[in-house]
Amino acid sequence: MTDPRLDDLAARVPGLRLLTELADLIHYGRDWTRRWGPAPLAVALPDTVGQVQAIVRWANGCQIALVPSGGRTGLSGGAVATRGELVLSLERMNRVLGFDATDRLLEVEAGITLHATHEAARAQGLLYPVDFGARGSCTIGGNIATNAGGIRVIRYGTTREWIAGLTVVAGNGELLQLNRGLVKNSSGYDLRQLMIGSEGTLGVVVGAQLKLTDPPPPAQTMLLALPHMDALMQVFALFRTQLKLQAFEFFTDVALRHVLAHGAQRAIDADQPYYVVAEYDAADERDEQAALLAFEDGVREGWISDGVIAQSEAQAAALWRLREGITESLAPRKPYKNDIALRISAMPAFLHEMQELLAREYPQMEVVWFGHIGDGNLHINVLPPPEMEQAEFVARCERVTQLLADALQRHGGSISAEHGIGLVKRAYLGSTRSAAEIALMRGVRHAFDPNGILNPGKLFEQES
Ligand code: FAD
Ligand code: MLT
Ligand code: ZN
Repeated sequence: MTDPRLDDLAARVPGLRLLTELADLIHYGRDWTRRWGPAPLAVALPDTVGQVQAIVRWANGCQIALVPSGGRTGLSGGAVATRGELVLSLERMNRVLGFDATDRLLEVEAGITLHATHEAARAQGLLYPVDFGARGSCTIGGNIATNAGGIRVIRYGTTREWIAGLTVVAGNGELLQLNRGLVKNSSGYDLRQLMIGSEGTLGVVVGAQLKLTDPPPPAQTMLLALPHMDALMQVFALFRTQLKLQAFEFFTDVALRHVLAHGAQRAIDADQPYYVVAEYDAADERDEQAALLAFEDGVREGWISDGVIAQSEAQAAALWRLREGITESLAPRKPYKNDIALRISAMPAFLHEMQELLAREYPQMEVVWFGHIGDGNLHINVLPPPEMEQAEFVARCERVTQLLADALQRHGGSISAEHGIGLVKRAYLGSTRSAAEIALMRGVRHAFDPNGILNPGKLFEQES
């Protein structure tokens, strides 16, 4: 090791695995945004809570910034390390620590992937219901830090609903056991909930007690083609009343083109501007009949042009790929991503305003919409024209994002639904949070992390 600070770290944390090779610095220094050049000091891969505490104490002592790191599937730049920070990766702390059948709590280390968590829940005959396309790589720690949502929020809510307890190393190195799995606990501030969505700025999540639930009844998956934008919310209202929905996701014809070009199979002949993947309980014939009736009602109203119901698990997976494969299909183009939220009731009016705004502001750019429309969450991805420089492209998108943020403020929405603020959206935080709220958030940050060593510059601008 050449840097004396790393020699000091290695001496203080015996057995700590440290990576300093350029390829590792690049790999661990960036996330899915790919917008910033990775330049961490090194990567630490602790194996125990004690090691995490010792790293945090060392960082406080020598004022080195730490970047907590999970699967780096984040889309807001929360886990990027560009300024000589130490990346603190939880990837080796990925064990299942136990299961309590009476409390239905699964205890895990924070570096376990979402997929491995699903498997551990399944082994107990139960379900951990947060789910989305990055399940194979993203970690429970990252999900907690971003309050991840995904494709089942409509039924189960976001990560926030499923955390019964957290073990956290705060920014000052203290070990905190937050809520300890209690169902009821009215003993003051809920610091566990404060940690959820804090984007690595308050503490390092090292472990979690996850609530598990009964698996849902058998489901059916339907793909619908819709003739116009208003039909999205009309069909949602119809399906929500007539079916027990597990998911209601949408994408546009532009998204479909990309995902098909990326290897997904065409599942419907219709060529329509909007598509929906709906999943609903189909426990018996009555449920299946209800789905057909809802479909027919939608067709009669002129809101649905065509549809298919998956006849097998493989077909259902193929329909889901059309929705879940979109992010990967766009990634090589380095899209600029907006991830916005509105109340469902505000959605119809907002959609029209947004459509006009995007058409006006991005005349020569391809704009791809998709997302969790049943939760009021839209993902707007803008693709750069081939000849445009990245810097000019981002500057243009940032100007439009300001207009979008203004519109969201008027409609009472949020600039981040589920991806977090990170670096990408911190300039727009004030459109969703008042100055008084941001001042309190900064105060909370200072209380947890007095020396500001955890993820400085993420979520809000660094204080000078
Ligand atoms: P990272 O990217 O490593 O980190 C994210 C943030 O969490 C950073 O600020 C980091 O510092 C912090 N952090 C990580 N681990 C810890 C820890 N142990 N303690 C404290 N802070 C920590 N997100 C959704 O919400 N819904 C979706 O449907 C969805 N779909 C996706 C699909 C694809 C294909 C991809 C690539 C991403 C998707 N995402 C989605 C975004 C991303 O997967 C989530 O934000 C996820 O929660 C990030 O987890 P991670 O482990 O990769 O975190
Ligand atoms: C999704 O819903 O697919 C994700 O949040 C990923 C994305 O927005 O690209
Ligand atoms: Zn999403």
